[in-house]
Amino acid sequence: MIEFRNEPFTNFEDPANKQAMQAALAKVKSEFGQEYPLIIGGEKIFTERKEKSINPGNLDEIVGLQSQADKTLADQAIHVALETFKTWQYVDPQERAGYLFKAAAAMRRRKFEFAAWMVYEVGKNWSEADADVAEAIDFMEFYGREMIRLGGPQPLVPLEGEDNRLYYIPLGVGVIIPPWNFPLAIMVGMTTAAIVSGNTVVLKPASPSPIIAAKFMELMEEIGLPSGVINFIPGPASEIGDFMVEHPNTRFVSFTGSRDVGLRINERIAKTAQGQTWIKRLVAEMGGKDAVVVDASADPEEAAIGIVQSAFGFQGQKCSAGSRAIIHKDLYDVVLEKVIAKTKTLQIGLPEENYSIGPVIDEKAYNKILKYIEIGKSEGRLVAGGGKAEGNGYYIQPTIFADVKEDAHIMLEEIFGPVLAFYKADSFEKAIEVFNNTEYGLTGALYSNNREHLEYARRHMHCGNLYFNRKCTGALVGVHPFGGFNMSGTDSKAGGRDYLLLFTQGKVVSEKY
Ligand code: NAD
Ligand code: ALA
Repeated sequence: MIEFRNEPFTNFEDPANKQAMQAALAKVKSEFGQEYPLIIGGEKIFTERKEKSINPGNLDEIVGLQSQADKTLADQAIHVALETFKTWQYVDPQERAGYLFKAAAAMRRRKFEFAAWMVYEVGKNWSEADADVAEAIDFMEFYGREMIRLGGPQPLVPLEGEDNRLYYIPLGVGVIIPPWNFPLAIMVGMTTAAIVSGNTVVLKPASPSPIIAAKFMELMEEIGLPSGVINFIPGPASEIGDFMVEHPNTRFVSFTGSRDVGLRINERIAKTAQGQTWIKRLVAEMGGKDAVVVDASADPEEAAIGIVQSAFGFQGQKCSAGSRAIIHKDLYDVVLEKVIAKTKTLQIGLPEENYSIGPVIDEKAYNKILKYIEIGKSEGRLVAGGGKAEGNGYYIQPTIFADVKEDAHIMLEEIFGPVLAFYKADSFEKAIEVFNNTEYGLTGALYSNNREHLEYARRHMHCGNLYFNRKCTGALVGVHPFGGFNMSGTDSKAGGRDYLLLFTQGKVVSEKY
């Protein structure tokens, strides 16, 4: 088997790639407004109740109409998953991995098309959408290989007269609850990790991004994944969320999303339902209040580039987004000035036309972010942006507040939008203290050319993914296993060698001879 390598990103400067992307956008647009079913045991179910998926960059466009599950259908999906588990758990790991490799190959062939769906459904620009597809392909290639490794003989200490073997066997029916911000990569990673490990699942995509998930379901049907392994049940979280989490037949929940929802699931999953015969397992990856720290020894230009990319990539709607810039007083003015200048060159507009900055996801997010911008006006000095931007969508100017205090709301709370707070630190140690002054602990970056400071940061910056002299977003599968501390989640390290263990249990069989 070929060794795992990350899927390369597309260079859109190449005219052939640009043309291919434009063609994919046109094709996808011609498919707007179609209806998408639930899929339970391979059966396509169109319900009366349908939710519109709207293009956040052009509110007149309906990307698709998604049928909605209720509790009865969610219950049906869980039972089908339970039934299918009886056979799927015994399918050879190599064969299960084979489905992921086929799906990765099929997705690679339709890379531009998958990217185009994300451009329209969640407002990613071309490079962000392309990176999302690449990560989805990577997850499938990586987890397929990992399952082959875990499915093979495991090293144990030999004992004379006994044949000892360790098997990683699956758990049962999983509930997969992904977020909308990496609507392909994270949804695909969470789902395929669970199924390649031998589990069957019910997949409830995030409400703003059901169509990209429906396209993944079409792909899985096309490559011949047996029906009932993934059961697709988009629906209102308020109605079916608790139901699935608390259902006596669900064995684990794999969740990625906000702190509050993660904590709610953590509480609910801990209660034993009538008839439940196991302790449920929760894999929860949650929010972040990440920061870029700049030491007095740093290159200010490099640091400014990293701060802008970390803060405003995909409009700051990444759990990894660097929404705080913590700068040593010696470089504060120069870095701030450079960041303002770079931010002012970012053009805002339609994702399909590949502007740097597109819309935020929906009206709720739009109002929340604008509210935080108003709070910021009383907590710092507004130096860039500061409100709505033009366009028939949820456009917000990339906004920067300078001279913000360490205990300000905009320094502590996850805004999940294009809002950046600058803090001036009197010393390097103080900068690290402020970095750690958060209930989260997901990503961080330090720009420094001082070896002692880098080593100090290696020990003291408390986050799951710490980067030196580069931005704090853009983890690569296999290279940067991803997950955070404290209220950022259970540090499950997606895209790492430990990840599949979360969806399995170890069984040891010892035979005396
Ligand atoms: P969200 O918490 O609103 O929703 C996440 C998922 O949970 C969605 O599918 C939603 O429908 C579902 N949900 C909502 N209420 C539920 C309930 N009561 N029971 C069961 N499911 C329920 O988050 P979001 O807006 O989709 O995503 C943004 C958040 O996700 C941010 O906080 C971001 O930091 C976080 N995130 C974290 C990571 C990570 O790896 N740590 C990655 C991406 C996003
Ligand atoms: N894995 C994504 C990143 O690192 C969230 O930016």
